[in-house]
Amino acid sequence: MAKKKRIGILTGGGDAPGLNAVIRAVVFRANQLGRECVGLLDGWRGALSGDHVVLTIEETADIHRQGGTVLGSSRTNVRKEKDGFKRVKDTLKRLNIDALVAIGGEDTLGVARDLYKEGGKVVGVPKTIDNDVNATDYSFGFDTATNIVMECLDKIHTTAQSHHRVMVVEIMGRHAGWITLYGGMAGGAHVILIPEQPIDTDKVCDVIRKRYKSGKTYSLVAVAEGAIGPDLEAKIMHSQKRDSFGHVLLGSGIGIGTVLATEIEERTGFESRHIVLGHLQRGGPPSAFDRVLGTRLGVKVVDMIADEKFGHMASLQGSQIVAVPLDDAVGETKNVPDFRYEEATLFFG
Ligand code: F6P
Repeated sequence: MAKKKRIGILTGGGDAPGLNAVIRAVVFRANQLGRECVGLLDGWRGALSGDHVVLTIEETADIHRQGGTVLGSSRTNVRKEKDGFKRVKDTLKRLNIDALVAIGGEDTLGVARDLYKEGGKVVGVPKTIDNDVNATDYSFGFDTATNIVMECLDKIHTTAQSHHRVMVVEIMGRHAGWITLYGGMAGGAHVILIPEQPIDTDKVCDVIRKRYKSGKTYSLVAVAEGAIGPDLEAKIMHSQKRDSFGHVLLGSGIGIGTVLATEIEERTGFESRHIVLGHLQRGGPPSAFDRVLGTRLGVKVVDMIADEKFGHMASLQGSQIVAVPLDDAVGETKNVPDFRYEEATLFFG
């Protein structure tokens, strides 16, 4: 008797709340359609090595409430591996996987797109707390991260106000400032700085001085880790380490939060502190929005496999989940448009 064809699932890149909801939904929908699922461990690393687990309804039934990914993740880049795509295709054949679900951000989906071009039967699900994947209105993980940032800003207000300090809060987002924009607006930051808009340090200091003059003797500055200004660039010292996709390691070394807080204190004379929210933003259970979005994307992607819509990604467009070509999703990041930033500036100061 011929062996049952299986669906493979992998999760690559930074973990994001909602990953387990996608995995669970893929398993449930696949099961309903009479298909078995296999999880490849640690993203593309498992696709290369063949390390895997069989995923059953029983084991995945409750996992949508947990953060992280039960399959593990890595930033393995198949393009950098000798015979990478051939090895992945060999693994799929060996494990009897006839369709692969790659859940990830721009990097993971870029590899998925290339695998499809090499003849692999692959579909994608967009994941990133940064919300910077193109061709989808939102990626899961973003809503949870934004809520965490809002809660942190709510808490940081207390010390800022009590000690009459400027608190500079560094938020994740190397290319796009979505988390900083949403978290900053919701959490009442008095200045929001994102990678899409060069920082004008004089202007930032003016806003803070004006607040002090009007009796508001504290300020919260929300700054994305990738934001930069011409007079600050030279003072930033990141680690020399890069991941396999060539990204500099942010959030450590001397980043924008540290540099900006020092600069504000020197220029205004107001006591300043900085805090890097770091991986707290990706931790803990997903929000209701991310659990539901992840679930809907997971169901859709199995239907796409059934329809043989390979080389596509499940995407949120308005309130609908639709299939879009992976080519539309990768290549460039989805940045914050000027008009969205301008809306936020109304509340600066
Ligand atoms: O891509 C998601 C993200 O959290 C970015 O916001 C951040 O720059 C990066 O991952 C951090 O990566 P790592 O966890 O590998 O340090």
